[in-house]
Amino acid sequence: MATTASLKIDDKEYPLPVIIGTEGEKAVDTRALRTASGYVSFDQGYGNTGSCESQITYLDGDNGILRHRGYPIEQLAHFSDFVETAYLVIYGELPNPAQRKEFGLNLRKNAVIETQMQKILEGFPTSASPMAMLSAMVSALPAYYPHLATNNFEQDLKHFDSAAAIAMSKIRTIVAMIYRYQKGLPFVFPKQELPFCENFLHMLFSEPYQDYVPVPEVAKALNLVLLLHADHEQNCSTSTVRMVGSSASNLFTSISAGICALAGPLHGGANVAVMQMLQSIHDEGDDGSRFIAAAKSGSKSNRLMGFGHAVYRNFDPRAKIIGEACDTVLTRLGIDDPLLKIAKNLEQAALKDDYFVSRRLYPNVDFYSGIIMRAIGIPMNMFTTMFAIGRAPGYIANWREVAANPKGRIYRPRQIYMGAVKRDYVPMAQRA
Ligand code: ACO
Repeated sequence: MATTASLKIDDKEYPLPVIIGTEGEKAVDTRALRTASGYVSFDQGYGNTGSCESQITYLDGDNGILRHRGYPIEQLAHFSDFVETAYLVIYGELPNPAQRKEFGLNLRKNAVIETQMQKILEGFPTSASPMAMLSAMVSALPAYYPHLATNNFEQDLKHFDSAAAIAMSKIRTIVAMIYRYQKGLPFVFPKQELPFCENFLHMLFSEPYQDYVPVPEVAKALNLVLLLHADHEQNCSTSTVRMVGSSASNLFTSISAGICALAGPLHGGANVAVMQMLQSIHDEGDDGSRFIAAAKSGSKSNRLMGFGHAVYRNFDPRAKIIGEACDTVLTRLGIDDPLLKIAKNLEQAALKDDYFVSRRLYPNVDFYSGIIMRAIGIPMNMFTTMFAIGRAPGYIANWREVAANPKGRIYRPRQIYMGAVKRDYVPMAQRA
């Protein structure tokens, strides 16, 4: 394989090093190009730019491959659970029994949200967007844990284990509290003895004197949904975490920025948009052809939600897993959700349509995740916050890579200025 490339501009040739990833991914290193030639590379939205070297997740969008730390997502979904996969994503190896126990304990003992912090949540209107509340609460964490969030890489890395457990555990608790707050229900405190997912369901659904104990299928389904979101390479929100972290911002602040990026409907918000789409097809008694026709218009606001991906040009492997799980979970829970049938019909129709086929647009993880979450009892407006709980390990691992990289630099892309050229100030009286 080539070890150097060259770029010819006019008559001058510029040699550029080639970087080969461990899975054979090839990149031309253009870092020195500007200094040597005065040119920058242009890649709007960074679609063809490797912004970092990473050891966390390997994604081959053409072949529908996703692996965390080398382990295929299919194997993790089958054999692992969310907390174990989170450990793997964050620390690089599957935990041994002692490490798994310690990690679990750390998550359990960091589950509670301090009374003062609860007041921040109670300051929001109950109608506020759950993602706005979640990002605000996470950005408040440094105020409560200043010794873990000093905005100094060396210091913050010393306390990484605690900060990581706080982030993961408290994001889950905050999401449960948002749910209760919006419903006008009293908060339910976490229980030390419960596993991660069961504890979350307890905080969501328990009532005074009546603990909610999920059937195993529900806890398993929740584990699967969260596990499938644990990390996904340099997506919009994870790259945001890295970008913010690169300025030496602490873990909590960086994650909070990632949560803001996740909120958009083209990213984490898509799971809500999918359900709205399916619901409106159901309500109108339509077969989905109206949505397919509108999506083909090319307008960004009419896209078929849950379809397409910035990187996958083949099936999103997570969509395959979650699509199959939908059938199993709903059958075991005895739920006949008409939206599942609509989703399947829509998928089949789109997969036969030349517009989607020629653009290689397939269902992504969000196409079916909402149906499972609905079966678990999670309301639609909370779906994107669920994604945030799931993605927390990925944010944490990526922040750590940035903080621990001795050769790292602040993320600071260039631009090609296309605005007005230099002109002189015009006094107000002379302006038309
Ligand atoms: N419906 C209709 N057309 C689409 C869709 C869609 N869902 N997705 C892409 N296209 C079209 C584009 O308009 C483009 O058409 P053109 O070649 O005629 O201009 C073509 O397909 C190729 O688009 P891409 O370059 O693949 O799309 P891009 O990388 O810009 O966007 C994105 C990826 C944002 C995910 C897009 O597919 C989309 O908006 N999907 C719907 C929202 C969604 O489900 N988001 C969740 C993503 S997964 C996640 O965040 C967990």
